[in-house]
Parts: sequence; structure tokens; C-alpha cells
Amino acid sequence: MPVKTALVTGASSGIGRALAIELATRGAHVALCARREDELREVERTILDRGGRALVLPVDVTDTGAVREVVAKADRDLGALEMVVANAGVGHFGHAGTLQWDEVARVLDVNVRGAMATLTAAIPIFLAHQHGHLVGVTSLAGRRGLPSSGPYSASKAAVSTFLETLRVDLHAAGIRVTDVQPGFVETEMTRNSAHKRRPLEWQADKAARIIASRLESAPAVIAFPWPLAMLTGFSRFLPAWIFDRLARAMS
Ligand SMILES: NC(=O)c1ccc[n+]([C@@H]2O[C@H](COP(=O)([O-])OP(=O)(O)OC[C@H]3O[C@@H](n4cnc5c(N)ncnc54)[C@H](OP(=O)(O)O)[C@@H]3O)[C@@H](O)[C@H]2O)c1
Repeated sequence: MPVKTALVTGASSGIGRALAIELATRGAHVALCARREDELREVERTILDRGGRALVLPVDVTDTGAVREVVAKADRDLGALEMVVANAGVGHFGHAGTLQWDEVARVLDVNVRGAMATLTAAIPIFLAHQHGHLVGVTSLAGRRGLPSSGPYSASKAAVSTFLETLRVDLHAAGIRVTDVQPGFVETEMTRNSAHKRRPLEWQADKAARIIASRLESAPAVIAFPWPLAMLTGFSRFLPAWIFDRLARAMS
């Protein structure tokens, strides 16, 4: 069933922007969250031009108090929030030998604290409604510690594990939980990254269509594209000595 109301963080660009537009096209009234208000206004205009409804709620997800207020406001103003998508995130690509703590902390702040704060803020609201759909956008990169991706892989693994527990704990309360694990998607994040090879990269619009359509049945995990999902799924069963050799050869 398509949702009637949703909040999407990181809606100012990339996957979040495309997903917000896609959900609105499918009939949802969508709260658009990110820091850059001008970009959010542009997304709002695109949605309005297509006959949809949107509400701009600028927020920095690392300000966890503000996140709580924005989620509560979306619930009030949209009239019973049905879905929260913790999508805001930052990338990081760099060899472990060059890591600076400030960079690691920034990735954890946005990708882990920001995402968990967004999801946590929605739980009491969904418990009161006795239904709701919590969605986190993590990554196939969270399935193993990929070369030159320590903070990023770790941040996505942390949120995937968090989502798994939420899924188990909140099932009886009627709350559904989905972990969206994309492979490469062409966005500001990938364009600005040092990743030279991005196999099987999808356009954000295609990713958003697939995510929105699969979210309607609230699966535990949405992972794509399937060859990379299979490969990374298989890699989880490899012993460290085999994984390390393959990962070093690829890097
Ligand atoms: N692109 C890929 O290949 C890929 C693959 C797997 C997973 N993902 C995940 O998909 C999600 C979206 O990434 P993307 O590729 O679409 O990148 P993107 O185009 O760079 O979008 C990132 C979004 O996050 C928002 N954001 C960043 N820091 C924020 C903060 N402190 N507070 C609020 N919003 C913040 C940005 O908005 P503002 O700058 O306006 O705040 C922007 O809307 C991320 O979680 C990413 O890890 C991406």
C-alpha cells in the first residue's frame, strides 16, 4: 500500500530528493528535511508542479533535539506520519593510514547519530498510532569492512544492526522496519568521491522508483543492484583470510 504521509531526511539531493519526489508522485504528503533550504524549496516546487504535496522542514540531523522537534512537527502538520526515511548521509573514502579523527567523527555524527536520532524520534509516534514504517538508507558497503571505507562501512553496518533490532522489537506493535542497502547510485556524494570505479551504478530516479515500489510491501531489506547484493551477501560468509586477500587485490 502506498503511504499517505512520509518524512525524508537528506531530501535536498540525490537518493533522498528522488525518493521524496517518487513518494509524492505516488500520493504521499512528504516532509522534506536537510540543511539546504533553497534546494528543499526546489524539490517542493517540483512536487507541487506534479500535483503533489510537500512540507519543507530544514534541519541538521546532527542536532538531535531539532530532529525530534521536526519529526513531531511533521506528524502534527501532515496528520499522522506513516513513514520516516533516515536517508541523510555523508560519504568518506580514504586509506586508513591517512585517517583524521575529525573526518571519522563527522561520518559517525551524520550517518549514525543523525540516522538513529531520526528513527528513534519516530518510535513513540508510531507506537501511539499503532502502526508506521521506519526506513533507513544504509549501503551494501556496510556488509563488510571495505578497503579505504572504514568510517563509512562501519557507520552503515551500525545502522543496519540498529534497524534489525528495531524490526524484531517493534513488530508486535505493528511497526514495520526496512533497511535500504543501495550499491552505487549517481549523486553528489559519488560525483565528489575519490571512487574511480563504480560498477553497475544506477541513476537516482531509478533507485527511487525501485525503493518506493518495494517499500509498499515493507520488506526487511531492499538491496540493489542484485549482482552486487549477491556478491556482498556471499562475502559475509567468507573467512577473514579469504576476504582480506580479495579486498586487498581489489583496492
Ligand atoms: N550514492 C550512492 O552510491 C550511495 C550508495 C549507498 C548508500 N548511499 C546512501 O544514500 C544516502 C543518500 O546519499 P546520496 O548518495 O543521495 O548523497 P547526496 O546526494 O550527497 O545526498 C546526501 C543528503 O544528505 C543530506 N545531509 C548531509 N548531512 C546532513 C546533515 N548534517 N543534516 C541533514 N541532512 C544532511 C544532504 O543535504 P544538505 O547538504 O542539504 O544537508 C543531502 O540531501 C546516504 O545515506 C548514503 O550513505 C548512497
